[in-house]
Amino acid sequence: MSGSYAEVRRRSMEDPEGFWLDAADAIDWVSPPTRALDDSAAPFQRWYPDGQLNTCHNAVDRHVEGGRADQLALVHDSAYTGAVTTYTYAQLQDAVASLAGGLRSRGVGRGDRVVIYMPMIPEAVIAMLACARLGAVHSVVFGGFAAKELASRIADAQPVAVISASCGLEPNRVVAYKPLLDAALAMVDPAVRPTVSVVKQRPQQVADMGPTDVDYDELVAGADPVGCVTVDATDPLYVLYTSGTTGTPKGVVRDNGGHAVALAWSMANVYGVRPGEVYWAASDVGWVVGHSYICYGPLIHGCTTVMYEGKPVGTPDAGAFWRVIADHGVAVLFTAPTAMRAIKRVDPDGTLLADVDLGGFRTLFLAGERCDPDTLEWSAATLGVPVIDHWWQTETGYPISANPMGIEHLPVKAGSATVPMPGWDVRILDDAGEEVPAGTIGNVVVKLPLPPGAFPTLWNDEERYVESYMSRFPGYYLTGDAGLVDPDGYLSIMSRIDDIINVAGHRLSTGAMEEVLSGHPAVAECAVIGVADATKGEVPVGLVVLKVGVDTPDDTITIELVRKVRDEIGPVAAFKQAIIVDGLPKTRSGKVLRRTAKAIAEGAEYTVPSTIEDPDVLEALRTRLRGPATG
Ligand code: COA
Ligand code: AMP
Repeated sequence: MSGSYAEVRRRSMEDPEGFWLDAADAIDWVSPPTRALDDSAAPFQRWYPDGQLNTCHNAVDRHVEGGRADQLALVHDSAYTGAVTTYTYAQLQDAVASLAGGLRSRGVGRGDRVVIYMPMIPEAVIAMLACARLGAVHSVVFGGFAAKELASRIADAQPVAVISASCGLEPNRVVAYKPLLDAALAMVDPAVRPTVSVVKQRPQQVADMGPTDVDYDELVAGADPVGCVTVDATDPLYVLYTSGTTGTPKGVVRDNGGHAVALAWSMANVYGVRPGEVYWAASDVGWVVGHSYICYGPLIHGCTTVMYEGKPVGTPDAGAFWRVIADHGVAVLFTAPTAMRAIKRVDPDGTLLADVDLGGFRTLFLAGERCDPDTLEWSAATLGVPVIDHWWQTETGYPISANPMGIEHLPVKAGSATVPMPGWDVRILDDAGEEVPAGTIGNVVVKLPLPPGAFPTLWNDEERYVESYMSRFPGYYLTGDAGLVDPDGYLSIMSRIDDIINVAGHRLSTGAMEEVLSGHPAVAECAVIGVADATKGEVPVGLVVLKVGVDTPDDTITIELVRKVRDEIGPVAAFKQAIIVDGLPKTRSGKVLRRTAKAIAEGAEYTVPSTIEDPDVLEALRTRLRGPATG
């Protein structure tokens, strides 16, 4: 895009209509939009209200037609099996069109929901694109969630079909997906239970099939390929459930038109990649990063996307990322700071880089959690490329703030997620709704309207959309993050203002974990706090008060509690520590003093809040977590 960052951003603010209609030219439309934004029902907004398109056409078919048929579209690299599987754009089109045909033969059509519960295999991306092709709405559920979490998402999305696989692979075990899927389906009310489960059999563990199960390969082999169904730009493309402050996840809705435009814009202008280059997001398709930058963004932009099944360390070593970059000619890598911390811990001197030719590797982007300056600086020094901290959320779908490498490489400031991107009017407000001076921490909000690509609503819950995001400061979107803007306009995101924690770049609700702990018969009350961790950024720790008269040994109860969270939320919660305490520190109005408890657990300085109900509880907690005070 021509012009400096400041010029481009100014235009996006002064003429959003013109700016986003121009950006829409990067997309193929069946009916091109004549208007960009309809915000007549604010805070609900609709981008490109009269446009029509198909997202799968933009991600696949148009590249086949436009000369990229033989270019690699998808490279799957499994650190567990050692296999590399590739699809050209033409092969991807065949695979997607056939699966779409198979799904249609099983009754899936425009507007129907399809839940995808799959490990990191190419069929997961193919399934997403097949849904998009049919105008169906996919909802991908991350494989590290347990059956109960899957069940709650199925119950809310009410899909016609579920697409899954027999198993996923983790470093020390094969994770059987099918029993988890079957258990989840058994928990769902039969009235809304999907009628078909499509299962991709993997050789590492073949699943037993039941009467409503369909073998993925057989379905595809017997299918007539189908073309792309035209949908409205405002039709939903997907629903992605994310943690809220309660145990009930929020179904973030993504539209077709705004999403396609925003992702195409970001690939060129934020990530600075060109069509034909190789782009790798080391995440999972179950997260928003996987949706936007494993699947849709790189493909819409005509890049080769890399899908990596493995970890940054231990599969087999801390050089795994460098091998993937070198083997596949990656130009840009996007991952979470926790991955770099994990590599740094094992190979602090970068010795595993010595024999690797990173070739045309240009930029490392980090997001998903706060990036500590040390990790950013170590990564830049070790790799010798710019390392960009950028900030976004499931709700926004792409970066709110970043260093726009395709427009202008701004100076990097470690600890800052750089500057607001065009279209994002970021402000910092105090609790009374007044803007605070530069350098002061406050609530990070975005003045409405949000740009294209951001979520237009929550699935089945318009009320919660307004209540959770749009009511605290009318006219602004509440991001849920606290942060500051420095005098140069650089944004730093410091923490959440709610009960969400970030564990290894995964967004988790402490409220959901508390609901699980409270369900144990011995527990009177509890609080889950995020405590600093050298690799994962934060880990959850449960503080648990037992009911009077419980005589089960504490150790037995804590083991049961850890198991219960793993069984009900999933291994991804990384809940390994429950501590039995005599009481929870509370204010006189009964609010748990989480920040103070967190400071105590981390060994940090803290002041006893004046509103505390019983200072002795705090002292007892301090003794329990840190041992008796000395001196
Ligand atoms: N299916 C089943 N189980 C899964 C899973 C999946 N898809 N993903 C993770 N898990 C399990 C893990 O095996 C682990 O189980 P364990 O308690 O038996 O060891 C547990 O969930 C916690 O996973 P995680 O927090 O990811 O820890 P880890 O030790 O497996 O890996 C990192 C730690 C830092 C290497 C890894 O989290 C990572 O690479 N993160 C950065 C990239 C990323 O995914 N970012 C997300 C958004 S960008
Ligand atoms: P998710 O919806 O899973 O993408 O998580 C979004 C949350 O992760 C944000 O609200 C932030 O709290 C946090 N986050 C993401 N990127 C950054 C970043 N670059 N710096 C600080 N926090 C971040």
